[in-house]
Parts: sequence; C-alpha cells; structure tokens
Amino acid sequence: MGNEMMRALITGINGFVGKHLEIFLKDKADVYGTSRVDRGVNHIFEVDLLSEAKIIDVLKKVKPTHIFHLAGLSNVKDSWRHKAEFFKGNVISTVNLLEAVRKTDTTIKVITIGSSEEYGRVSGKLDKVTEKTEINPISPYGISKCSVSMLMKLYTNSYGMNIIHVRPFNHIGPGQNLGFVTTDFAYQIAQINRGISKDKTMRIGNLQSIRDFTDVRDIVEAYYDLACYGEPGEIYNVCRGKGICIQEILDILIGFSKEKINLVVEPGRMRASDIPKLVGDADKIFKSTGWIPKRKLEDTLKDIYVEWLTSV
Ligand code: GDD
Repeated sequence: MGNEMMRALITGINGFVGKHLEIFLKDKADVYGTSRVDRGVNHIFEVDLLSEAKIIDVLKKVKPTHIFHLAGLSNVKDSWRHKAEFFKGNVISTVNLLEAVRKTDTTIKVITIGSSEEYGRVSGKLDKVTEKTEINPISPYGISKCSVSMLMKLYTNSYGMNIIHVRPFNHIGPGQNLGFVTTDFAYQIAQINRGISKDKTMRIGNLQSIRDFTDVRDIVEAYYDLACYGEPGEIYNVCRGKGICIQEILDILIGFSKEKINLVVEPGRMRASDIPKLVGDADKIFKSTGWIPKRKLEDTLKDIYVEWLTSV
C-alpha cells in the first residue's frame, strides 16, 4: 500500500461480514459502504447493486482505492428455493459492479467473494482442496459463486483490471443470522437454557458432513491482507485447513448447556444435495500474506452461544 491511506468501499457493509470488516478497518482505512437500506449515516450509501448507474455515482463520490464486494446472498439451503434471486444478488450485481469500475477507474483493487461451495462435490480421496481443484458446484448458490470467479477472470484478462477472488470456507461468529448451522444450533440450545423451549428438544439436520470453520474476525483480516498483497487475477482459499464433522460442532455447543437436550432430525433441515466434505488448503494465502487464523474454534462457538443466550 505504500504510504497512501486505503479508501475502502464495502458493498453490503451492514451484513454479517461487512460489520466485522468495518470494525477491523477502523484504524487502517477510510471506510465507506453500500447498503440496500438507508441507515442515515454519512459514510454508507443506499445503493441497489442492480443499478449500474447508482454504483457509478457512488464510485465518483467515494473514489475508493479498494472495493470489498461482500454484498450478496449466502444461505446455501435458501438458494434451492430462490434460484433466480441468487443469480441476481450474486452474479448480476457483480457484473454491474465490475462494469461500473471498468467505466470509472480500472486501478481500483476489487476483492470478489466466492465460496468453498464453488468446489462442490470433490473426490472423497482428496484430503484438502487447493485453488487448482476442479470446480464442481452442486447448489444454485455454488454455481452463482463460480460465475463470480469466472467474471473475475474475464475482467482481469480482457480489461487488465485489478481483481482478486477469494474462496472463504465456512465462517462463523457473533452477528450471524439464523439459517447457518452454528447459529441454528446455538439459538435452540439458548432457548432451552432460558426455559423458552419447554420440550427441551433441538431440531437438527445432517450431522455427517464435514466442514472447515474459521472465525469471521480472522476471515476479515485475511480479506485485508489479500487486498494489500494479493495478486490480480488470482484466486485464494481462506480457511483453517482442518475439517470437523457437524456432529462434533453439535457436541461442543451442547457441552455449554446446563440442561439435558433431546435431539430430533427434522427433514426440512436436509438439503436436496449436501456436500459431504469440504476442507481447504490455505497454503497459497499463507505463502502470499502470512495469514493464519488466530482464534480457536471452541472459543468462537462459545462467543456464538453466549450471544444467543443474551438475546433469545
Ligand atoms: N444451516 C443448517 N442448519 N445446517 C445444518 C443443520 C441446521 O440445523 N443441521 C445440519 N446442518 C449441516 C448442513 O446440512 C451442512 O452440511 C452443514 O451443516 C453446514 O451448513 P451451513 O452452516 O448452512 O453452511 P454451508 O456449508 O451450507 O455454507 C456456508 O459456508 C459456505 C462456505 O463454505 C455458508 O456460510 C456459505 O455462505 C459459505 O459460502
């Protein structure tokens, strides 16, 4: 970055990751954001990313050096019910953003956010997926994020733009909405411990899958490091590199409970198809930036549980 202060524009600044990134960047950058809803604050612009003209307007006002494109839809299960919405929210909005950057200032460094869901169903023999692993998405969400990675390639190859694409694996922490496994579990355990759920029964989905979880506060640090040191045109996994079975996540969270809990598998929590195992190789980001996750998974799960315990 040299001595020049980063001027960061975060799309979706009021989302789960956006809020954490804004906090992290506080003393490192001048921070601006876009949101679909007017928050009545000066540094956040109300923008629907389906309007290229509105994005151009904001780019001219903010003159960012970096854009963290976090806005989008992230719930894999929901993507089965709202397929077109996911393509609008994740793909069309990215086309509009990249077009707006192309027409305004191609030196802006853009970080596009993909997902490990892009890899989809990978060979059971593969221990960890690297950025070179073939993509094979099996959800509408995964396909929408693959499209984002292809747009990154298109705009860097065709227009020489300054874009990098990140593939975060599961990221969790305080502030995440319901609909993701750790929040769904922690919320129900908190309800049972607060005496709200009288039958003391938790509804669960597939416990057999294996995922690679990282604290969102570590993830935003990785995004910043990649914004500073990532190579344009490159894709980076962002992950811990350690798989854990959902059953084990459940066991850790239930370990925080003072109440005995009954478990019921709820068919509605199962998916049309669910990736059995997704564990990432974080070698590339480590070699490029030195980034490694700092927080222990058990501590993150405790933070999530405590947050729900105080808010149910
Ligand atoms: N949500 C949820 N709720 N998932 C459950 C539940 C439940 O009650 N019970 C079991 N699961 C299983 C899911 O079937 C899946 O195998 C696993 O827990 C993780 O589900 P999610 O937390 O919903 O995450 P995801 O892996 O589908 O996707 C997340 O990670 C991606 C990166 O790998 C999301 O955060 C995506 O936005 C992100 O890109």
